[in-house]
Amino acid sequence: MRVLVTGGAGFIGANFVEHAVAQGAEVTVLDLLTYAASPDALAALPQVRLVVGDVADAAVVEPLVAEHDVVVHFAAESHNDNSLRDPGPFIRTNLVGTFTLLEAVRRTGARLHHVSTDEVYGDLALDDPARFTEDSPYRPSSPYSASKAGSDHLVRAWGRSFGVRATLSNCSNNYGPWQHVEKFIPRQITNLLDGGRPKVYGTGAQVRDWIHVADHSAAVWTILERGVPGETYLIGADGERTNLDIVRTLLRLLGRDAEDYDLVADRPGHDQRYAIDSTKLRRELGWTPRFADVEAGLADVIAWYRGHEDWWRPVKAGTEAAYAARGQA
Ligand code: NAD
Ligand code: TYD
Repeated sequence: MRVLVTGGAGFIGANFVEHAVAQGAEVTVLDLLTYAASPDALAALPQVRLVVGDVADAAVVEPLVAEHDVVVHFAAESHNDNSLRDPGPFIRTNLVGTFTLLEAVRRTGARLHHVSTDEVYGDLALDDPARFTEDSPYRPSSPYSASKAGSDHLVRAWGRSFGVRATLSNCSNNYGPWQHVEKFIPRQITNLLDGGRPKVYGTGAQVRDWIHVADHSAAVWTILERGVPGETYLIGADGERTNLDIVRTLLRLLGRDAEDYDLVADRPGHDQRYAIDSTKLRRELGWTPRFADVEAGLADVIAWYRGHEDWWRPVKAGTEAAYAARGQA
């Protein structure tokens, strides 16, 4: 199977590429190598071809898609806080990029899997026992989640109107190696490794549903193998934790006091709770997560960041300066 992976040099895309190669796929990565990319994550896979280009550029995308049987679409601007500061790149990559890819698969007949997020459903109240399902209404809150919601709508419309063979997945918050230090868990781990303190928005009561990136990759592969075109699958591993729980776990794992964190300015429009019901994926396609224990997963990730300082160190100070400028450091 010849698989084109957009955004395959990013955090989740690179993990998926490793998984796909291990399953015997012939993989090409299309990635613009933005600030978020980690080509180092692909260094151990010399058989993977890397094409540096923009998913919103039809001149690059069309001939490349024509050489592949399957396209797995990870490329996106992915950080909420950045979308609040400058939404433009989110509209271009997440909406125009997905449109460009859809036009290409419409012409060639390639199968598409579109990778999306649970954030398209907006948030749940902290005291609401409900979880998101495939039938939850779209209610995005931020420019990031609105751009991802729009990309989901485009994929469904191209399926219904033009017969594009596409599956979709909406996954919860990922953690694991190679995640940029702007994101919540790597930011706190690297602050702690530097002898600093975690920075918690607002009160830290918000809830995220954490999944190890390797479980996300395996779920996407399962959908490619057994998913039904036109269908959407929610991916989650029952990993709900408050932000404060995560920070206190990291503090404990690193031998620090449980109160050794700072509360900083909240994110405008901050979503309160995300929670995934992944029953459909488990029952219909037989997927189950392997990393059930978030605490054990976090211990592994701490060890990984400790061992990869040469990778994150060059971007740490600049990332923290951007947070400081917004009163979040
Ligand atoms: P990331 O920011 O780490 O990586 C994104 C990759 O896309 C980078 O390598 C970047 O260079 C590339 N890219 C950006 N703009 C591009 C363009 N115009 N053309 C080609 N490549 C471009 O993101 P991630 O966390 O790995 O997320 C990957 C996908 O998974 C995204 O679609 C995101 O919405 C989705 N997702 C992420 C999470 C999460 O917790 N991180 C959860 C659910 C879904
Ligand atoms: P993030 O990793 O940005 O993911 P998302 O916004 O897509 O869920 O943030 C996860 C949670 O952590 C979210 O509730 C915001 C919060 N957060 C902090 O408390 N401090 C931080 O420094 C960051 C980056 C996020």
